[in-house]
Amino acid sequence: VKAARRTQHKTAREGRKTIVGRIDPEVLRFTAGKDRVLDIALAEAECFATAAHATMLSRIGGKATVVTEGQKKRIIRALAGIVREVRSGSFRISQNDQDIHLAVERRLTRKLGDLGRRIHTARSRNDQVAVDLRLYGKEQLLCVMDETLELGRALLKLARRHAAVPMVGRTHMQPAMPSSVGLWASAHAESLRDDISMQRSAYDFNDRCPLGSAAGYGVALNIDRRLTARLLGFRGLHENVLYAGNARGKCETVILSALSQVMLSLSRLSEDLILYSTPEFGYFVLPPEYCTGSSIMPQKSNPDVLELIRAKTTRVLGYASTAAGIVKGLTSGYGRDLQETKEPFIDGMQTARACVRILTALVKEINVDKKALLAGFRPEVFAADRALELVGEGVPFRDAYNHVKKHLGELEKVDYRRAVVSRTHLRTQGGMNFDESAAHFRGIKTFVSRERKRYYGSVRRLLGVEYPAPREREVT
Ligand code: ARG
Repeated sequence: VKAARRTQHKTAREGRKTIVGRIDPEVLRFTAGKDRVLDIALAEAECFATAAHATMLSRIGGKATVVTEGQKKRIIRALAGIVREVRSGSFRISQNDQDIHLAVERRLTRKLGDLGRRIHTARSRNDQVAVDLRLYGKEQLLCVMDETLELGRALLKLARRHAAVPMVGRTHMQPAMPSSVGLWASAHAESLRDDISMQRSAYDFNDRCPLGSAAGYGVALNIDRRLTARLLGFRGLHENVLYAGNARGKCETVILSALSQVMLSLSRLSEDLILYSTPEFGYFVLPPEYCTGSSIMPQKSNPDVLELIRAKTTRVLGYASTAAGIVKGLTSGYGRDLQETKEPFIDGMQTARACVRILTALVKEINVDKKALLAGFRPEVFAADRALELVGEGVPFRDAYNHVKKHLGELEKVDYRRAVVSRTHLRTQGGMNFDESAAHFRGIKTFVSRERKRYYGSVRRLLGVEYPAPREREVT
């Protein structure tokens, strides 16, 4: 009985055969988690990085050449074929593969036989996933920078068009001082300018190659890490191989924190728009095709897009702390925990980008209701301006303040336009300077297109495929 039980136990534990040994099916399902789906987003990066690795292996020479020049060409041709399968949607990661790395190795071995079995020389999935995420991050950051600056430009355009249209400025949500639509819209644009700076520094953090660190301790083979970094278009590499691995999760945290900042800007803008477009305010009119109706109340036109952006902001903030929390619990060297940062990272990127894009489209269609904006002004809004007028006549400020406070009922509505343009703290009318933000956005645009050219050029040269895929061109 004992022997029978032992055999039974053994069969159950024997598990499914994978490239990396037999694994219990339940364990396989649990440990692979969502990688089978998520890793598809990394598939092209995996092929690109594998091409760089094969090229490097073909160039290091030495007695035991791992890959000859001819073999390298065959590997790269096979990888280009895999890229095409990925683009057509026919490439699958099986349960036994667990992830994109073993799926590509299996496919290469199927296409190339023994040659495919050489490709894992001097690599580990730990540095493979790390480099794939850097490449994915690079591409996505360039997109989000580009998209954020387009939103900034749309807001600047709105600001210019309505520069001197009066709008009550508020503190504590209460009417405070005369202000303008120009100031309001360009404030949101300037916020995005700062967010792009965060994205830019996350971009620099991300732009270092971890490939060749293998499991985190390098390999006893004459590989050339600087060469692979260069082939992949990275500006530098993580020199310390242990840190190259430890930086996984940390890099995701940096990027998600940068995205959290842009989400905070979007959330505030959304909140402003929701409030100021309610009938009680009516300052702005949202494009009807960006609002949704109610299934019971025929009159409704709801700002669902803006509400979802508010809620998705919380999601991205949560992702940043999820990634940081995972890293916080780790010792040096790879831990499977890191796999759990992948979903927050990928979804955080996609969520932030989708929010920026839809809000840009919405902002371009906003209508400004000047009458409603003027109706928001009551004489008290000019109280501080009146006090300063008295200061101009030589009255000490505190006396002027007390005088106006005592005679609030006597305040008159003044010329709104004059109130707006008399704010000259930048030595410009209305205290606004749109040109500087516009120049900043132009600079980022140039940076993005230069980096894209460089990155896409590296992929095309190495892999010989069109990049990015033609159907993705409009989005990227
Ligand atoms: N899917 C894994 C991840 O995202 C790949 C690395 C697996 N490495 C390992 N030593 N089990 O982390």
